[in-house]
Amino acid sequence: MKTLIKLFAVVTLAFTVQLSMGQISGTKHDFSTKGWNPSGEICIVCHTPHNAITGAEPLWNHELSTATYTVYSSSTMDATPGQPNGNSKLCLSCHDGTVAIDNFGGATGGSQFIGGNKNLGTDLSNDHPISFTYDAALAGTDGGLFDPTTTNSGLGGTITADMLFANEMQCASCHDVHDDTNGDFLVMSNAASALCLTCHNK
Ligand code: HEC
Ligand code: HEC
Ligand code: HEC
Ligand code: HEC
Repeated sequence: MKTLIKLFAVVTLAFTVQLSMGQISGTKHDFSTKGWNPSGEICIVCHTPHNAITGAEPLWNHELSTATYTVYSSSTMDATPGQPNGNSKLCLSCHDGTVAIDNFGGATGGSQFIGGNKNLGTDLSNDHPISFTYDAALAGTDGGLFDPTTTNSGLGGTITADMLFANEMQCASCHDVHDDTNGDFLVMSNAASALCLTCHNK
């Protein structure tokens, strides 16, 4: 009986693990098989349950970048983005190319750097603006944006609830770092520009 219960527990665990690993597992954010990650774990490169970096939510484990960025600016834009903040800083800890991907868990001597067009660099003036407030007032001023507080995102709730972080646009407004179902880690398919047209009334 004991063995049977044990077997049942193992089977249940295996099933649960398979379900919960369905999204990030096997994507470009799954570093569990990399030689520089001998733990064989997925989450650890970005998160840790203990001794996380102070002030970097959620339970951040990857060395942060100290870069100063050139941000997007344009004469037709109403918002004025400042330096990247919030969880965009987490993405940029790998995607600005200044910090090694294997600098996690307190390690600083890594040698793996992000390459090609996955490296946004520190000049973000040619990238979609991030780290600014997108609220009803901005939508009103702009005229070409939907009101995020009342417009459905198509993901279950409003744009504010599903795509903004403390009312701010961030990288994670458009990307889900844990789920590559839509390709490019997008929060939804961008076929026929569906992602863009969620916020832009064009
Ligand atoms: C490549 C880096 C990376 C990996 C690997 C990663 N995460 Fe995350 N995670 C992030 C970032 C960045 C955020 C903040 C942005 C967001 O909330 O989408 C986040 C947010 C979260 C959150 C809080 C928000 C939410 O979505 O619930 C939880 C919980 C979480 N991650 C759990 C995990 C677990 C569990 C794993 C391993 C199976 C994992 N993450 C792997 C980068 C990563
Ligand atoms: C621990 C480092 C790390 C963090 C943190 C991280 N990424 Fe990545 N990301 C990578 C690497 C490495 C790749 C694969 C690069 C390659 O294939 O050359 C990648 C690939 C991607 C891709 C391309 C996927 C594809 O199919 O080509 C996107 C989009 C992306 N990341 C977005 C994000 C966003 C948005 C965040 C934050 C919410 C984030 N990443 C956080 C390391 C990271
Ligand atoms: C407004 C939506 C939006 C925001 C905000 C956004 N992205 Fe993307 N990103 C996309 C789309 C859409 C793609 C798919 C490829 C394309 O259309 O260029 C993409 C592609 C990428 C790629 C893959 C590039 C390639 O050519 O393979 C990376 C890496 C990436 N994004 C990282 C980030 C990071 C890091 C941030 C924040 C600094 C960010 N993105 C903010 C929409 C966005
Ligand atoms: C989650 C909402 C959201 C999504 C999704 C989104 N945007 Fe935006 N975008 C904004 C907001 C808000 C602004 C700031 C507008 C302003 O202040 O004038 C902006 C700014 C821009 C600008 C700069 C406008 C200017 O006047 O310089 C362009 C161009 C743009 N977005 C195109 C896109 C494209 C293309 C996509 C799809 C790949 C996209 N956006 C997806 C919310 C979004």
